[in-house]
Amino acid sequence: MIATIGHRISTALQVSTAPLRAPYRAAAGWLRRWAPKSLYPRTILIIVLPMVLLQSVLAFMFMERHWETVTRRLSTAMAREISALITVIETYPQDADFEKITAIASDKLGLSISLLPPASLPAPRPKPFFDLLDRTLSGEIGRYVGKPFWIDTIGRSQFVEIRVKLDNHNMRIIARRSQTYASNSHIFLVWMIITSLVLITVALLFLRNQIRPIIRLADAAESFGKGHPIGNFQPRGAREVRRAAYAFIEMRRRIERQIEQRTTMLAGVSHDLRTILTRFRLQLALLGTGPEIDELRRDVDEMNTMLQAYLAFARGDGDEQPDSVDIALLIEDLEADAETAGRRASSSFDGDPMVTVKPNAFRRCLTNLTGNAVRYAKSMRITGKHSGGWLTVTIDDDGEGIPASDRETVFRPFFRLDAARNQDEGGTGLGLSIARDIARGHGGDITLSDSPMGGLRVMVRIPD
Ligand SMILES: Nc1ncnc2c1ncn2[C@@H]1O[C@H](COP(=O)(O)OP(=O)(O)OP(=O)(O)O)[C@@H](O)[C@H]1O
Ligand SMILES: [Mg+2]
Repeated sequence: MIATIGHRISTALQVSTAPLRAPYRAAAGWLRRWAPKSLYPRTILIIVLPMVLLQSVLAFMFMERHWETVTRRLSTAMAREISALITVIETYPQDADFEKITAIASDKLGLSISLLPPASLPAPRPKPFFDLLDRTLSGEIGRYVGKPFWIDTIGRSQFVEIRVKLDNHNMRIIARRSQTYASNSHIFLVWMIITSLVLITVALLFLRNQIRPIIRLADAAESFGKGHPIGNFQPRGAREVRRAAYAFIEMRRRIERQIEQRTTMLAGVSHDLRTILTRFRLQLALLGTGPEIDELRRDVDEMNTMLQAYLAFARGDGDEQPDSVDIALLIEDLEADAETAGRRASSSFDGDPMVTVKPNAFRRCLTNLTGNAVRYAKSMRITGKHSGGWLTVTIDDDGEGIPASDRETVFRPFFRLDAARNQDEGGTGLGLSIARDIARGHGGDITLSDSPMGGLRVMVRIPD
């Protein structure tokens, strides 16, 4: 019952989220394409974006509400004061020179007023671009004074001038701008921006310290993958990063221990077997000659070669240290070897020839591949390319090639394709396994495909 309900709910949910999936995917795709790729800029974005958003909303609300309200209140007060002054002037005209009222306005209200002979008001001034004050003050004066007036809010930066047409005079009022207008409100914005800049800087500094251990861990893992030494890598930073780092160190130790065990065991086995083989050979020498004995001797030789190849495979690239190697030169060498073996060969190299690899191991990897081309084909081409952080060496030949279905199996140790094809060739079937082992030990790989020359194309790709 519960299961049925659960099923129904999940189907209903699936149905209801289906139309949302496409826009969600589009948004996710857009984000993936445009969002910064590394951790540091991403984290910066995560901190800075909400901050900017919050501040924009705050600033907007502030401008919209606080600033406008304060300005309106101030303007209302000023308009009322002017209205009161006008009423006094008109109701008590006994103050002939308006001395008293001018003094009251100046002392008590902070307004400088003067009464001019009647004249028509000047032409209205053009509206300023940012006209909050102009708009508000005009509105309030219109409301409270109710007489024709003229206003100038921009002529003098610190003051506002208002002229009102009375019955017998023109009244000029000069007030400080700050009396009518929340003029220093921008200080709030300036403070807000300065504080957030300080906060962002502090956050960035802290962040850098948090991210550095992650980058170091990534670097160490990458060098280990390429078979480079990782120096004395120490776990640092937050607990989770440390945990990952300890896990990585443990994993590295385990891998190294395993390789060491494999090498020691195989070295022991091959040593024992070789001792017996040597004894065999001695006994054969004592037996003299004869067709059966020659056959036996050949078998013993073959066993010896196989053992050596096996040992080389088991040893892997050992403790060899990476070094800068001229790959163009190496490729020319291989070409010369193939020619010496009586094959047609050509080679080319493109890009910076110096690449950091384990010199002997990498040479062995390529020698195994060209050796195959020599063995299974008549002519070959070696092409090297170093660009975009990768070294690619391609070996094409005109032999029989390897069917697509066998292109993975041939990498297995001791696997030889079509025993009839290479009878008497004396191979052990380890060449490709060793080559791939070495390529992977450098953080790369080997792939097989069809060659335009008609045979096999072997491509070795390792990161720079
Ligand atoms: N260039 C090639 N053209 C055709 N077949 C190939 C080529 N390279 C390898 N092969 C096939 O893949 C098999 C495995 O190759 P691999 O190099 O591992 O062993 P091998 O050449 O037989 O012996 P080894 O290299 O150990 O002396 C070979 O037996 C061969 O059948
Ligand atoms: Mg081979």
